This record gives sequence, structure tokens and C-alpha cells, in this order.
Amino acid sequence: MASTKERLLEKKAKRLRKLKGLILSGGKGSRLRPFTYTNAKQLVPIANKPVLFYAIEQLVECGVRDIGIVVGETGEQIQAAVGDGSAFDARVEYIHQETPLGIAHAVKVARDYLGESPFVLYLGDNFLLGGIKSFVESFCADDCNCQILLQPVSNPQAFGIAEFVDGRVRRIIEKPAEPPSNLAVIGIYLFDHNVFAAVEQLKPSARGELEITDTIQYLIDKGLNVKAEVLDRYWIDTGKMDDILEANRIILDTLPSSNRGQVDERTRTYDTVILEPGARVVNSVLRGPLIIGAETKVIDSYIGPHTSIDHHCQLKGVRVGGSIILEYTTIEDLHWPIEHSLIGRYVTLRGAQAVGGSYSLTLGDHSQIEMPEG
Ligand code: DAU
Repeated sequence: MASTKERLLEKKAKRLRKLKGLILSGGKGSRLRPFTYTNAKQLVPIANKPVLFYAIEQLVECGVRDIGIVVGETGEQIQAAVGDGSAFDARVEYIHQETPLGIAHAVKVARDYLGESPFVLYLGDNFLLGGIKSFVESFCADDCNCQILLQPVSNPQAFGIAEFVDGRVRRIIEKPAEPPSNLAVIGIYLFDHNVFAAVEQLKPSARGELEITDTIQYLIDKGLNVKAEVLDRYWIDTGKMDDILEANRIILDTLPSSNRGQVDERTRTYDTVILEPGARVVNSVLRGPLIIGAETKVIDSYIGPHTSIDHHCQLKGVRVGGSIILEYTTIEDLHWPIEHSLIGRYVTLRGAQAVGGSYSLTLGDHSQIEMPEG
């Protein structure tokens, strides 16, 4: 005869085996334009790895192998980057959402894929340091219908906010003008099949979306077991440039040094420096934490701290700190340092030596450039 403890463990293991992942990578990246004008915001790299990949890896780390990714107009790019999931040891399927009508709408669209399985809903632009294993385990052990994670924020008007009464979540409100608390609902949720009855009866909110917060409110109102846990770890919604740079800084701080590139004898390195295969550094200062991507060349430059340079870039005669530079970008001979910047793919920035007395620019819509007097 199995003991109570054994039965509970078996129940937890059974729920864990059935658990699927649903990552949302649709929507538009308007707050990051022109950065995401042609690219999905979930593919913006943090420490040279797309934000979305962290979510996939964290699901796989919990034993979740079946992952559905909801995609919209940038679906082709997402699919090209993630493929069938085998590189992550997962089985990835793509679910097309014609129009980004809300997070709960995306859940509705994914209903056939999810079937009766409990699932982790992970917003593809959210990042949580340290993974989700403990939350997934407690959801599976507790047999609750929904689990949400909360974190105090300084700008509660920008998030779904939870209100507690007598130690239990009573209300969840999307981006309230007058927030009842500063506890934001972060973009990682666990649900069982009861969520489908909730999303089916939703009406569009004032901003025209089917809200995930209204979904959770429905579950609370129906008396279902909605568990909330306050997080004590670093979490960020990478929807804005400052947040991406901050996430980059935090992640670089956690990584160990590794050198799979080449550094000449005139280069000095400090703190954590990561060189990816084929990276080459000549006569420069590398002030970690920083990462330099595959096949990128750095010559006569000062890089760091908290800087990620992606693959196939060329930097010569420049100073770059606290920034992210995407692949195939060339930056040469700049008089002033680049600080606190996010520079896209295939950008060329050349200093006065090459242009001589005038600026020559090809910039996308909504570009922001600050040019101090020389
Ligand atoms: O980051 C946490 C916040 O995420 C929560 O506190 C809010 O309650 C929740 O509504 C959400 O707010 P956002 O305004 O940040 O959501 P956003 O529109 O940026 O969408 C989040 C992700 O989901 C993003 O990767 C795009 C994707 N998405 C979004 C919508 C509206 C879809 O795939 N389809 C959609 O229809």
C-alpha cells in the first residue's frame, strides 16, 4: 500500500509529465522601434542570446518538452531562430495568431494545442533570473488551478496589479490608473484546463484586448484555487530599451569568463570577459563583464563594462560601454564614447575621419541619436 506521501509524489509527477509550455511571441514591438521594426522583440539578445531562448531553456529545465509558441507577423523570424526545438531538447510547435487581440486571446487560439494539459504561460519578452523550477514544482504539488507570481514595482500603472484581502488575492486589474498595490503580476503563469472556460466568456477590455488579468479574475470569482507567490528574484519585462540594457547588465554579472577567441599580447582584460569562437581582439582594453560574439573583431578600442557585442561585428578605434550591439555592425573611429546604447543589425557608424566635417546618416524611423559638440 502506497503511503500518503508516496501518493502525493505520484500525483505531482503525473501533473508534471502532462505539463506543456505556451510562449507568447506575437504582438508588436512598438515600444522598441526602430529596433524591432523588422525583428521580433522576443529575439532581442541579452548577453548575445535572444530573450525568448531563456524562456525555452527554463521550461526545458523543468522537464517541459512540449512547447507551443504563439506567433504573429514576425512568425517567420521566430521560426527561423528556434526551429523545431531540437536544439533545446524540446518539441516546438507554432501557433499562428492572426491579430494580437490580447494575451487571453492567444491562449484561446492555442486551445487545440494545449488540450486538457496544465501549462506554463510564458510571455516571450519576460525574463526571470534563476528559472521557474520551484514555481512549477509547487504548482504540480499543490494541485491549484492557477498560480501567479508577483513582484513589487515602482510603476504599477504599467502592469497587471494584484490586490490582497486577508492574505488572499481578491482582485487583479490591468494597468490601473489608481493602483491598489504595487504588486505586479509577472508574465509567467501556470494554469489548468479551467482557464478555457474563463477565456471563452471574456469581452475585450477598454484597450480592445482579451486580458489575462480578467481571465484570472474570473477564476478567483468562481472560487477556484488561485495561488499567488511574491518573488524575491530579479524579473524584468524587456519591452523597453532601458529594461533591455538593465537585463543585459544583470545577466552579464552572473556569467563566468570564457575565452574561445583570440586576444593579442597588447590587449588588457579585467573582470569577466567572454569571447565566443572566432572573436579577435587587438590592442584594446576589455573591461568586463562583457561578451564579444563569434567572428567579431575589436581593434584599438575600449569595451565595457556591461557590454554585449554580437557576432560578425567590427569595432575599431572606439569606446563602448553599457551597451548592446547587434550582429554585422561596424563602428569605427568615433571621437566620443558610445554609452547606454542599443545598436541594431547591419549598422555602419564611422567617425569624422571617414566623412570629414559633416554627418552622413541612413537612419530608420523613430531613431534617436544624441550628438554632443565635438
Ligand atoms: O510583463 C508583465 C505584464 O505583461 C503583466 O503585468 C500584464 O498584466 C500583461 O497584460 C502583460 O502586459 P504587457 O503590456 O507588457 O503585454 P504585451 O502587450 O507587451 O505582451 C506580452 C507578450 O505577449 C509579448 O511578448 C507579445 C505577446 N503577445 C501579446 C499580445 C497582446 C502575443 O503573443 N499576442 C497578443 O495578442
